[in-house]
Amino acid sequence: MKFNARKRHREIFTKGSVGIKSVIPTDHFALEQAAKKMLGKSEFDYIATGAGIEQGMSNNRAAFLDYKLIPKMANGCSDISLNTTLFTREQIPAPFLFAPIGVLKLAHPQGDLELAKAARASGIPMIFSNQASYPMEQCTQVLEGSPHWFQLYFSRSNELVESFIHRAEQSQCSAIVLTLDTTILGWRTRDLDNAYLPFIYGQGIAQYSSDPVFLRLMQEQKKASEEKNPFKLRSLALLHSMIQHFPGPFFSKLRSKDPIKAVKKFIEIYSRPNLNWEDILWLRNQTKLPLILKGIQDPHDAQRAIDMGINAIIVSNHGGRQVDYNRASLHSLIEIRKKIDSKFPLLLDSGIRTGTDVFIARALGAQAVLLGRPYTYALALGGAEGVLEYVKNIAAELEITMSLCGCQNINDITQDYIQYIAGK
Ligand SMILES: Cc1cc2nc3c(=O)[nH]c(=O)nc-3n(C[C@H](O)[C@H](O)[C@H](O)COP(=O)(O)O)c2cc1C
Repeated sequence: MKFNARKRHREIFTKGSVGIKSVIPTDHFALEQAAKKMLGKSEFDYIATGAGIEQGMSNNRAAFLDYKLIPKMANGCSDISLNTTLFTREQIPAPFLFAPIGVLKLAHPQGDLELAKAARASGIPMIFSNQASYPMEQCTQVLEGSPHWFQLYFSRSNELVESFIHRAEQSQCSAIVLTLDTTILGWRTRDLDNAYLPFIYGQGIAQYSSDPVFLRLMQEQKKASEEKNPFKLRSLALLHSMIQHFPGPFFSKLRSKDPIKAVKKFIEIYSRPNLNWEDILWLRNQTKLPLILKGIQDPHDAQRAIDMGINAIIVSNHGGRQVDYNRASLHSLIEIRKKIDSKFPLLLDSGIRTGTDVFIARALGAQAVLLGRPYTYALALGGAEGVLEYVKNIAAELEITMSLCGCQNINDITQDYIQYIAGK
C-alpha cells in the first residue's frame, strides 16, 4: 500500500461530512480509553499493564518528550516517500512493523488472523508471536506472501526450539526474532490484582498445541507428573476455556484431557530462566535466516551480539512490562548507536505512539520501529479495519511531519531536525 496523508485527510473529512466516523480515534490516549471501555477489565489490563508502579512504561514516553523538532522552511518537499528498505532487503511502505504481541484473542476473537489481514492490505510486516492465539501456518495463509517474521521465546527444550524454527522456515518467515527479556514474567501488578494470566486458561499457546514436538512432550509428561498436579482445576469455566482453545473435536479433547496436559506442559517448558550467550550461539547455528535479538538495552550486549553474527537488534524494554524503572528504550537506542558500527541495523520498540515518535526514532538512528499496544487497541475496536486505519493514521502523521520539516525521503531524517531540550 502506498500511504498518502492527503488521501487520509480526505477520507476522514469526507466520511465525517456524511456522518460516518472512523472506526478508531486518531489520538492514542482516546484509542486506549475506547479499547478500555470495550474490553473486559482483566483482558484490557493484561494488555495495558506494566511492571511494578509502571515507571518503566512512563520512562518510554517521557524520553520522546525531551526531543524538539526543528522544521526547515521553503524546502521544496512534495511527493514524500516513506518507503524503507530493511536489512532483510524487504521493501516496506513505511518504517514500521507490527510487534509480536501474544494472546491477541483477548482483543478480538480472530486475533492474529485479523492482524494478518491488515498486514497483507498495508504491506507492514507482521511478527508472529510465540504466544499467538493462532498457529503461524494459518496466519501465513492469510498473509498471501506479505512479509512476516517469527518471534521465539527460548524454551527449556532445544528440540521444541528447533521445531519452531523449522516451522517458521516452512512458513516463509524471512527472519527469526529471539526475545531475551522474558525469561520470567515481570511483576505485573494489574494482572496480579486481577489474579489473571491467560495462559492458564489455555489462551496464547496455539504455536505449542499445533507443534508435533510439543504434543509428543506433552504426552510423555503424562505418567511422570500426573500425581503432582501443578495446579488444581477449580472451575468448569477454566476447563471449558482450556478445551475451547485446544485444537480438535470437543468430546475427544474432554476424554483425553489433552487441553489440561497442554497447559501444564506449557507452564513447565515455555521459558528458559538460565538462558545464556552459548544458547544464543547454538540458535545462531540452527538457521540460515537472519537472527534478530529483541530486548537488548546495553551497548556491551549489543557488541557481543554483533560479534556473534546476529543480524540486527530490536532495542526494547518490552513496553515496560518486565523491569520497573527501566531506562527508556529510546535512551538505550541512543547509547547503543553511539558505541556500535553506524551501519548495523537497530530497530526501536517500546513507547512508539505517533508518527512524530517514528520521526524522532529515525533521527536517532533506528532503521524502523515496532508498533505495539496501540494496534492491539485498534484491533479490539475494529478488527483488521481498525488496524489498517491505525497504520494509515500513523503513516499520515509521519508523512506530514516530514513534509513540514523538509524531509523528502526517510533517509533525509537526521539529527539536524531534532534538538535535545529536557522537559516539556
Ligand atoms: C499484551 C502484550 C503481549 C505481548 N506479547 C509479546 C510476545 O509474545 N513476544 C514478544 O516478544 N513481545 C511481546 N510483547 C511486547 C511487544 O512486542 C512490544 O515489545 C511492546 O508492546 C512495546 O511496548 P509498547 O506497546 O508500549 O509500544 C507483548 C506486549 C503486550 C502489550
